[in-house]
Amino acid sequence: MSLQAILDKEFLEKEDIVRLLAAEGDEKKALLNKALEVKLSRLDNYVHLRGLIELSNVCRKSCLYCGVRRDNDKVERYTISEDQAVECARLAQQLGYGSVAIQSGERNDPEFVAMITRIVHRIKEIDNGSLGITLSLGEQSEATYRQWFEAGAHRYLLRIESSNEDLYYRIHPRDERHDFHRRLDCIDTLLALGYQTGTGVMVGLPFQTLDILADDLLFFRQKDVAMVGMGPYIPHPDTPLYPFADQIPPAKERMDLTLKMIATLRLMMPEINMVAATANQTIDPLGREKAITAGANVIMPNLTPNEYREEYLIYPDKACVGDKPEECFSCLDIRMKAIGHEILYNEWGDSRAFLKKKRTEP
Ligand code: 5AD
Ligand code: FES
Repeated sequence: MSLQAILDKEFLEKEDIVRLLAAEGDEKKALLNKALEVKLSRLDNYVHLRGLIELSNVCRKSCLYCGVRRDNDKVERYTISEDQAVECARLAQQLGYGSVAIQSGERNDPEFVAMITRIVHRIKEIDNGSLGITLSLGEQSEATYRQWFEAGAHRYLLRIESSNEDLYYRIHPRDERHDFHRRLDCIDTLLALGYQTGTGVMVGLPFQTLDILADDLLFFRQKDVAMVGMGPYIPHPDTPLYPFADQIPPAKERMDLTLKMIATLRLMMPEINMVAATANQTIDPLGREKAITAGANVIMPNLTPNEYREEYLIYPDKACVGDKPEECFSCLDIRMKAIGHEILYNEWGDSRAFLKKKRTEP
């Protein structure tokens, strides 16, 4: 079948997906153009913002790719105070960001759980609940997820990192703290509780194949998630996965593969929210723009106080680490206009796929 015929299909099968992910040259361009066309027709040229608050780099896990893993003793650990976190959210509201995303290393202790609940409550009090709240705080019990949901968080991101169990255990230690099936269960729990649930994978990992990446996309469709985040894997020198860096494709190829993943998923799930991950910009100065024109529609500008950012380097040379939130604000607006997109300020920017599903459910 010609590539054009695949692009015109209503429903993509696995073999179609693999074929799209392998597209090069003019075929790749045709895929990216089609994805942009689909996005513009279903979601318009809007870009939604989530002001990112990197709350803490304290983490009980030791993911083999992650720079802030528990076993990396080169990192100085910090946790932002509750007041500071709420201040960040206030700044988001003043800048018109519409939503915040709170991200942190994984902690399950009752103090942490209670602190998040209080922060969510306090953010909800800003301007009568005008800010949407996304949490990205790892694997938690159902009770914790429920408590945070009832406090007012309505979106949750938990990347599966890879939907292939073998690959999952090549990039995570195989122990009780890193359990592929528990992660799957967490995603199901989040969906059942009514969160707008997001997941995602890293692209260009060692041992990853196009076949596995196609399965990742099928996994997102099968779970019918509302949001997806995908970015290129960036080797971090202080991690156990670093020695495999010579086995992965060069940066440009990882970027291109990420764009093809975004574009293919946009064809498969035309109305979900997809983030242009910061990792894209780290690997290519125009990476975020490229992700947006390949089908992404969300950007997460960093609101973490600058003094802490150097300690939240999950991968090296992260973009924007030195920029002040206000600088990111005008920079982003200009960058999005330059590619024909428009930032939608002061709106939550919920996933249209999620809102539609909610309306049709009994
Ligand atoms: N390169 C790219 N992305 C990474 N993440 C963690 N470490 C890396 C890395 N070295 C991603 C993971 C995680 C998200 C917060 O950042 O997918 O879920
Ligand atoms: Fe915990 Fe990366 S291993 S944040």
